[in-house]
Amino acid sequence: MTRLQLNRRRNRFLRAHHDLGTPTFPSFPISMSTSFRHESVLAAEVVEFLRPAPGRTIIDGTLGGGGHSGLLLKGGARVIAFDRDPEALAYARALLAPHGESFVALEGNYAEAPAALAAMGISRVDGILLDLGVSSHQLDTAERGFSFQREGPLDMRMGRSGATAADLVNTLPAAELARIFREYGDEPRAIHFAARIVRAREKKPFDTTAELAGLIAAGRSGPRHPATRVFQALRIAVNDEIGSLERALPAFASLLAPGGRLAVITFHSLEDRIVKHFFRRHSVAEVDDPTWPAPRPNPDRLFDAVTPRSVTASPAELASNPRSRSARLRVVERRCELPDTAEGGAR
Ligand SMILES: C[S@@+](CC[C@H](N)C(=O)[O-])C[C@H]1O[C@@H](n2cnc3c(N)ncnc32)[C@H](O)[C@@H]1O
Repeated sequence: MTRLQLNRRRNRFLRAHHDLGTPTFPSFPISMSTSFRHESVLAAEVVEFLRPAPGRTIIDGTLGGGGHSGLLLKGGARVIAFDRDPEALAYARALLAPHGESFVALEGNYAEAPAALAAMGISRVDGILLDLGVSSHQLDTAERGFSFQREGPLDMRMGRSGATAADLVNTLPAAELARIFREYGDEPRAIHFAARIVRAREKKPFDTTAELAGLIAAGRSGPRHPATRVFQALRIAVNDEIGSLERALPAFASLLAPGGRLAVITFHSLEDRIVKHFFRRHSVAEVDDPTWPAPRPNPDRLFDAVTPRSVTASPAELASNPRSRSARLRVVERRCELPDTAEGGAR
């Protein structure tokens, strides 16, 4: 397919799917800065497991600063990358432009990658990477509102549209805020913080990260900032991070060619549990039930496990990149021979 055809298909997809639709809230200012601070985690492991080579197409669902994509391109693969963040896209596109037609970067949610690829005439790929969460650049940019340590608007959106963190804390009922803090942040004082937020917003709605962090931290101290969990939880809710992951995993299973690999890097236990259970459910050879005389072949088997346990950063990486501390990489490979009942059985 020529570059022109690819661009036409890409533009058709963007018009139909990406989240540039009519923003319901003002967009954050997009800086086209040439500096983008983010060190890719588990980079050597990603290359080893995804085996980039000429003739292989690999999807990078979380482009960020383009570190992983760059390595996959260096290995000779064609990379089609996604990010919701226009700032990350602008930076990575410029960085990886020397790779020419081997690199395509699209703005949108990775969960919509299969539709984007279908619009480009691609129905099978050889590898998919997800490196979840936010980049260091996003965290460090005060105007994006991700960090309780930097004063900025209480935004937290990775993309340009949708409700901001301020919209959630200023409008959701206390019970819903508490659920978000508990489910997405493991926050033991979820109900307490939700109630305090609701009381405080009656006097004045929250506008900035500092206002929210100040309310949560009031009178508390400890090795970890008291607002860490609440900010993580809000970020996950604002960006529907769990919903995106849950929608994407089964769709990616169908996108992988036989022998193709899916690699996912997670940074907190909720995401890791989702990935672990999905991979296990679709890679165990047999399933059992106390009422059966013997185990039976797993009708949902789609994958072979490549990493029976999660892979974590080496001591050298831990020493040089503190963000790698909580990173866990899991990889599965699409099976070549599928039982009749398994095709399309991913959920
Ligand atoms: C941890 S960073 C990725 C860093 C990248 N692997 C690198 O080496 O530079 C995660 C990136 O994924 C993006 N992201 C997170 N969830 C996304 C989603 N559902 N769809 C598209 N992009 C997403 C974020 O905007 C962020 O830029």
